[in-house]
Amino acid sequence: MISIQGIKKRFGEHEILKGVDLEIPPNKITVILGQSGQGKSVLLKMIMGLLTPDHGNILLQGQDLRDLGHDDRSQYAKKIGMLFQNAALFDSMNVEENVAFPLREHTKYSDAVIRETLETMLNDLGLPDIYQKMPAELSGGMRKRVGLARALVLKPEIMLYDEPTTGLDPILADSVDQLILNTGQKFGITSVVVSHDIEAAFKIADKIALLHEGVILEEGKPEEFRKSKKPFVQQFILGKAGEGFIG
Ligand SMILES: Nc1ncnc2c1ncn2[C@@H]1O[C@H](COP(=O)(O)OP(=O)(O)O)[C@@H](O)[C@H]1O
Ligand SMILES: [Mg+2]
Repeated sequence: MISIQGIKKRFGEHEILKGVDLEIPPNKITVILGQSGQGKSVLLKMIMGLLTPDHGNILLQGQDLRDLGHDDRSQYAKKIGMLFQNAALFDSMNVEENVAFPLREHTKYSDAVIRETLETMLNDLGLPDIYQKMPAELSGGMRKRVGLARALVLKPEIMLYDEPTTGLDPILADSVDQLILNTGQKFGITSVVVSHDIEAAFKIADKIALLHEGVILEEGKPEEFRKSKKPFVQQFILGKAGEGFIG
């Protein structure tokens, strides 16, 4: 689905990515693990087309991102939904306006069709009857779900999640993990989750990759990953790979 090939990226003196190769399989959940500052968010932004690599290619269904013209690029952007860490809702808009926003920006749907799309989406995510609520009135879990509804409303083929459970209490984190699982299955979406949470990764991932010192140090199915012979991977699994897991 997404093929990441030999990606390098430098900011000033600092080479963050030193040749990242990763295959992201379709309709599965891939979790990219790594300590803070390893370049996980940078990698997601490249998949999103918001940052360009210095070297290497990102192919989506065989098509190189850089070969796309302006129109194709906006088509591409519509295929990808992203849930940022803070859900990033518009505070001055109610739930209905927030979720309808991408539809009003990118489609010519009538009000009736928009309303129907919203109803289905909010019901699917367990959020009926909150159309008129403002973001400030919502719990953290509801905000996440509204953010997810807004990301899903254009029916993306790919969902990117940047640290979806960071800062949430364990119960809420669990329900967000469940939501990622259900969303992937229900909508047949290719999901990429960036996380430092090894336990959650084992719960939701079909594939795990560990980004460390600019390269993918280990990757595989969760049971393969768990059996890695690399000392750093074992340290990471045991939670002993040093501080700074947040980010
Ligand atoms: N636009 C940017 N300009 C300069 N440095 C950046 C930029 N984006 C990220 N970085 C740096 O790249 C490194 C990796 O960042 P990031 O991808 O956010 O790490 P992670 O998400 O793994 O915690 C950090 O040292 C960060 O400061
Ligand atoms: Mg990050």
